This record gives sequence, structure tokens and C-alpha cells, in this order.
Amino acid sequence: MTWISIFTGKSGYAASSTAEDVTKGVDGTGLTAIVTGATSGIGLETARVLALRRVHVVMPVRNLEAGKKVQQGIVEKIPNAKVEVMELDVSSMESTRQFASQYCSKGLPLNILVLNAGIMTPPFALSKDGIESQFATNHVGNFLLTNLLLDTMKKTATESGKEGRIVIVSSEAHKMPYKGGIKFDKLNDEKSYNSMYAYGQSKLSNILHANELSRRLQEEGVNITANSLHPGVIRTNLIRNGGFMSFFINTLQSFLKDIPQGAATTCYVALNPQLKGVSGQYFADSNLSKPTAYARDPELAKKLWDFSLKLTESK
Ligand SMILES: NC(=O)c1ccc[n+]([C@@H]2O[C@H](COP(=O)([O-])OP(=O)(O)OC[C@H]3O[C@@H](n4cnc5c(N)ncnc54)[C@H](OP(=O)(O)O)[C@@H]3O)[C@@H](O)[C@H]2O)c1
Repeated sequence: MTWISIFTGKSGYAASSTAEDVTKGVDGTGLTAIVTGATSGIGLETARVLALRRVHVVMPVRNLEAGKKVQQGIVEKIPNAKVEVMELDVSSMESTRQFASQYCSKGLPLNILVLNAGIMTPPFALSKDGIESQFATNHVGNFLLTNLLLDTMKKTATESGKEGRIVIVSSEAHKMPYKGGIKFDKLNDEKSYNSMYAYGQSKLSNILHANELSRRLQEEGVNITANSLHPGVIRTNLIRNGGFMSFFINTLQSFLKDIPQGAATTCYVALNPQLKGVSGQYFADSNLSKPTAYARDPELAKKLWDFSLKLTESK
């Protein structure tokens, strides 16, 4: 039992709505989705509910054993579920390229891409590619994966006549980045590393990424939307690194969303017909929401795009 708001917003849903509530009556037959980070928390529930709505779900995971267990758990509850597991460490560009190439060579279509995998406030570390770990996992991996899968998504959208959707799981923590938003010139500097600001920076990047991607897709006239969202505050494995956020979440647990509520906004943005044609927006509690001025800054979004492109092209 949690004590979160039951007041509905314009969409007709509230913070208390669950992922099943916001997708009730939606038939996802014929749709294929990728959900990253589906071995636990919000991603697992998102994968389960999309499968429940008859979407074919592909779960790229870094731990295949954990992924197979999740797959089994879903199929036990939903016997006709179509759920597949593939390998992906989203913090590694090599692994991301390998996954994308395997996915494309399977000849699978792709209607919905849910970029959910993430880490929060670990001690300073560099990824295999030498990039600060939160920025590498939470943003660069998403950026590269999207670019590698975009042609498949475009082909699917054209051939099926159905709108493609890219859903990027951000956070209200985007309000707490480093001074100036993104530390482009000192991204990998251990001395000035602050785990909370680095998390905020990566989550700000999620919104900027969705916005610039949306702008580009619209300019191209492609039938694919890109949106970002805050899922709420939910007690998941995300708090494994301890620190202030873990203390806060553990203490206030009974006032927070549970996991079915935590996956609602993601499923709403991924599947709900209300959002047909809606792109470049930020959502919370399955309703439109307004991110910070940094997150709405188109110049910063362009700068991040060019920066991310250079990073991913150089490795
Ligand atoms: N929980 C909250 O209160 C909250 C609030 C705002 C935003 N969010 C966002 O919601 C998303 C999901 O978080 P959650 O709360 O559900 O946390 P979680 O239970 O820890 O789930 C995170 C998922 O990401 C996966 N992952 C992490 N690093 C990866 C990598 N390098 N390659 C592939 N997969 C990787 C994890 O896989 P493993 O099982 O292998 O670790 C796990 O499946 C994150 O983007 C987070 O920032 C959460």
C-alpha cells in the first residue's frame, strides 16, 4: 500500500495508475518492442505488461542468466507471451554494435524502443570506452543503440503503416545536473566527479536526446515519435549504491510508487493511443509534464547530439 496521489490529470490517469491500467484495452498484436534493462524494476514490469498486451518483446540484457529467469517468469504468467532474450552491455559500444547487428540480421521489425537501462550514483568509474560510467550507460549507450536501430524502425514504420515510438526513461533528477548542465569539457574528470550531479547530467541528457531526436525525425517526415519521462520514485535495485537517494527512498518507501505504478508512464508513452503523433515531450505520472529550462534548450540538445556523435564515431 502506498500513499501516492490518486488525482487524475488530463490524460485520465494518476500517479496511482499502474502499467496495466494505462494500457487496458490496447491490442499490441503485430508490434515488436525492445526494452532495455528488463532484468529488474521498471524495465521488467514494462516488458511483462507489453507482453500481456501481445507485443513481441525483445529484452537485451547484460546478464543472460537473469534475463532467462525473467523470460521464464513472464511466460509462466502469460503463456502466449512472445519474449526473447539477447545479450547487451549498454555501457560498451562494442557490445551495443554487436547487439544491433545481431538484431538486424534476425530480420525482426521494430516498432517500439524503450531505453530504460540505467545506473545511479556509483563511485567514479570509466566504461570500457573510457567514458564516465553513468554518462556511458545512461546516455551514450542509448544514443548509439538508437542510431544503429533507426533504419530498422523507419523500415518497420513505412512497411507496417504503424507509428514507431522511442521512449527514453529519464528522471526528475535531471533537475540536479552539474552547474551549466553538462560538463562537456570535464566529462571524465575524477576530481570534480559528484555521483549525484553525474546522474542528473545523464538524465538531463536523456531528455535532450529525445527532444533533438524528435526534431530530426519530424524534419525527415518519419512516422516515429521520441519522448522522455520520469517514472516516479520507486524502490528498485537502482539504489544499490547507497548514498542520499537510497536513504531517502528507503525512508519514504510507503509514500512512494510501487513497481506496477512505476512502469505506468513508460507503458503509457510506449503504447497508449492518446499519444499518437505526440513527440518531443516529457511525461510524469502518465501525463504531460514540464522539464527544466536546460532540458528544453534546443541549442544544448544540438550540442549534446554533436558531442555524442563524435564520441560514438571515434570508438
Ligand atoms: N527507481 C526510481 O525511483 C527511478 C526514478 C527515476 C528514474 N528511474 C530510471 O528508471 C530506469 C530503470 O531503473 P530501475 O529503478 O528499474 O532500476 P533497476 O531495478 O536497477 O533496473 C535497471 C536495469 O538496467 C540494467 N542495466 C544497468 N546497467 C546496464 C548495462 N550496462 N547494460 C545493460 N543493462 C544494464 C540492469 O541490469 P542488471 O540487472 O544486470 O543490473 C537492470 O535491468 C533507469 O533509467 C533509472 O534511471 C528510476
